[in-house]
Amino acid sequence: MRSGSNVCGIVAYVGPQDATPILFEGLQRLEYRGYDSAGVAVVGKSGQLRVRKAKGRVRDAAEGLPARFKGAPGIGHTRWATHGEPSDANAHPHVSGTVAIVHNGVIENADELRAKLTADGVEFASETDSEVLAHLIAAAAADPDVDLAEAVRLALTRIVGTYGIAVVDASRPGVCVVARNGSPVVLGLGDKEMYAASDVSALAGHTRQVVHLDDGEIAALTAGGYRTFTLEARATTKEPSELDADAASYDTGGHATFMAKEIHEQPEVVERALRGRLDPRFHTAHLGGLNLDPRDARAIRRVKIIGCGTAYYSGQLGAQLIEELARIPADAEPASEFRYRNPVVDPDTLYVAVSQSGETYDTLAAVQELRRKGGRVLGLVNVVGSAIARECDGGIYLHAGPEISVASTKTFTATGVAFALLALYLGRIRDLSPADGARIAAGLRALPGQIQEILDREAEIATLAAELAAHRAAFFIGRVRGFPVAREGAQKLKEISYLHAEAYPASELKHGPLALISPDLPTVAVVPDDELRDKNLTTLGEIRARKGRVIAVGHSAVADDTIVVPKNEPELDPILLTVPLQILAYHAALSLGHDIDRPRNLAKSVTVE
Ligand code: M6R
Repeated sequence: MRSGSNVCGIVAYVGPQDATPILFEGLQRLEYRGYDSAGVAVVGKSGQLRVRKAKGRVRDAAEGLPARFKGAPGIGHTRWATHGEPSDANAHPHVSGTVAIVHNGVIENADELRAKLTADGVEFASETDSEVLAHLIAAAAADPDVDLAEAVRLALTRIVGTYGIAVVDASRPGVCVVARNGSPVVLGLGDKEMYAASDVSALAGHTRQVVHLDDGEIAALTAGGYRTFTLEARATTKEPSELDADAASYDTGGHATFMAKEIHEQPEVVERALRGRLDPRFHTAHLGGLNLDPRDARAIRRVKIIGCGTAYYSGQLGAQLIEELARIPADAEPASEFRYRNPVVDPDTLYVAVSQSGETYDTLAAVQELRRKGGRVLGLVNVVGSAIARECDGGIYLHAGPEISVASTKTFTATGVAFALLALYLGRIRDLSPADGARIAAGLRALPGQIQEILDREAEIATLAAELAAHRAAFFIGRVRGFPVAREGAQKLKEISYLHAEAYPASELKHGPLALISPDLPTVAVVPDDELRDKNLTTLGEIRARKGRVIAVGHSAVADDTIVVPKNEPELDPILLTVPLQILAYHAALSLGHDIDRPRNLAKSVTVE
């Protein structure tokens, strides 16, 4: 079986310093993206290739490194295998002669290439598809008239698949070559030194000047600078941009985990998401990047939202907001399903893709399919300049800052706010009255303070979480506006606490799952004080009659234990109601002793199908 290495981190350095500590520090920052094995390769002073790699965490690969392990240029990798066992041999870098490579992505024709190379006498040291690339580059580099950049280009023309790669060759010191196709690579411009990484988090602290490679682009890096060109050997020109986050954004900032930090950042995240976007004169929203004039916006007859996981649940919340405020039919669907069902693309529908990373392959592929069929797609994306952001016709940046924890929290909230702004804008060019526009704007402005009130109740929520953690499973229920909240609450609990958590519309309970209710299966119920409160209370009565334990989240005490949250406008309440469920999941996982920022089997960005 081939072992893919797809949702991984790459870092590279060329310059006068010893690359080793720079690579390991970069890999530590990238570890949230993949953490089953890691490795580095550097070119030593006397031109020898030094390689260290190991199964496990970055710290395992760094442990006991001899003092002589020094050199530059260098490349590093942290891996999250999608199939095939993580092992020392499968860890990157992969080496062929004097060439070492690290690779993110999947080489689809690896089996065919491996068979040809094996027939030519090449011996493979690993099960990976990536190693094929090392041998192809080494073969092209065997010609002394071919420089490393050209050898990489020639090898890549034989590859079918996706890649973000970094390559060094000990027999051609002073240069590192990187390339991108479907897996991000960003260059960091230093002073007489160059960096590259799969993610800007590895560059923060070294430089703020970055260049994002496009798909099909290759870059040759030396201490003096870089040149970029295409797979067809055509030179390209790139504009550097300024990093919008500093090194501190990538630290836990005194919190025990990134997830705790990101939960606590939410008041500030909402303020940033709103900054400059509310128009007090017309009680609407200013959304500069939509690229949608009011006439086009009025012509929209449907809104279809796509995203994966938490991004999809935030899309459900968004669909609800758009229907309520703009009275445009709206729904959300997992992008991973949408892209495979040959969707009917309608010119009067506005498509909205949601993604924190802007890299999720299923979402990107769905956007590409929509654009190919002439659909108009907006992106609600956090990472500026990411693949999905660039693929869309326009959009709203979330401005939530880097989200490092695998479990998304602050970007769910920021997406909810972005959808509220979009719904307000679409509503106000239709039938939403100025008074209602002003009401929603005031509600949005109140959110940061109200989120802070919820955060201040963390200790109380932690006590309930410890109780929840004593069970093996939990139900999460909510009605209409409360249902996406319940789904996101269940998602948070299962991904970090590993308890089974199932979200159901409260209205559906009696159509089947009520049979499961017993003292052993607690229910977390989302019960806002809205027009459906009485219906929800009836459902809670049905659960209690079966001796089911209920922990409610709402605006007034409706169960033995209710986490009472501040009341906002009914349309915006779901944003607030989600916050205590994030804290509940966090403390349940903490009380079970799990590694919260690195949940098993998961990685932050899923850049594969
Ligand atoms: O980067 P994206 O928002 O596109 O990621 C989509 C999902 O993989 C992601 O939302 C995932 O479900 C969460 N990290 C889980 O908390």
